[in-house]
Amino acid sequence: MREQPTNDTRQPANADGRSVRLYLLAILLAPLAAVLLLAAMLTLFHVSDLHFGYEDRAALDWFAGEVARLRPAAVICTGDLTMRGTPREFEMAREWLAALPVPVTLEPGNHDVPYYWYPFARATRPWREYDALERAVEGDPNLPDAAVVPLRTAAAAQWRFNWSKGRVAPRDLAAALQGLAHNAAKPLRLVTTHHPLIDAGTEGSGSTRGGRRALAELARAGADVVLSGHVHDPFDVTLEFDGLPIRLVGAGTLSCRLRASRPGFNLLEWSADSGLRVTVRSV
Ligand SMILES: [Fe+2]
Repeated sequence: MREQPTNDTRQPANADGRSVRLYLLAILLAPLAAVLLLAAMLTLFHVSDLHFGYEDRAALDWFAGEVARLRPAAVICTGDLTMRGTPREFEMAREWLAALPVPVTLEPGNHDVPYYWYPFARATRPWREYDALERAVEGDPNLPDAAVVPLRTAAAAQWRFNWSKGRVAPRDLAAALQGLAHNAAKPLRLVTTHHPLIDAGTEGSGSTRGGRRALAELARAGADVVLSGHVHDPFDVTLEFDGLPIRLVGAGTLSCRLRASRPGFNLLEWSADSGLRVTVRSV
């Protein structure tokens, strides 16, 4: 009996052809997939304590270069823009911040009021220079997936000896809670303060009055992360209140006032699939 010829000999050739086509398609689509992946990833830079007047120019240049290279959706700055709160220092801050090619959000620090040896200015118009800077350079990052809600912790004066420490005033907390409620639909809710609401084991301390209570209320109101500065060293801890996690992330400094770390900032990368990743970038 004669055996029927089969097409078996052609199968491997078809399979090879298909593999080659799939391979070429993958090569063609890979850049598109990478672009889509990057588009889905939200990138923010969290920087703090620039301290113009005692700034580290090399660190500032490096940071500005990173902003130009990676083009984050926004730069979030958590206070202490100046050293002594003088008009000259605020002008230096304005010039540098205005040159950044992305939106910037600001939060005032305890150094952003006239220094103690300008008691009249400190008593009568503590936030004049800071407010003018904010009006000049702050932009709305307009982030579809994230809210940036400010909570002021710096005070020009308070009922204790050390005025550089933090405090949460009831009206400021109420405004932050309202901001969170307004942004309840956003999947990532960031609160920005200058002082850490709770000290996180760093050399420096915020000793923020009302910080723990504020943190509990922020967690209940749906805040995911509190970004802060002040201690000049980065940290990243997660606490829980009533079973609700809230992350505290601190940025270092770009000034010469160093503590335990090199000058640096925090790179924040968020996507709906992978959540928030925080990477400390140092000079
Ligand atoms: Fe500082």
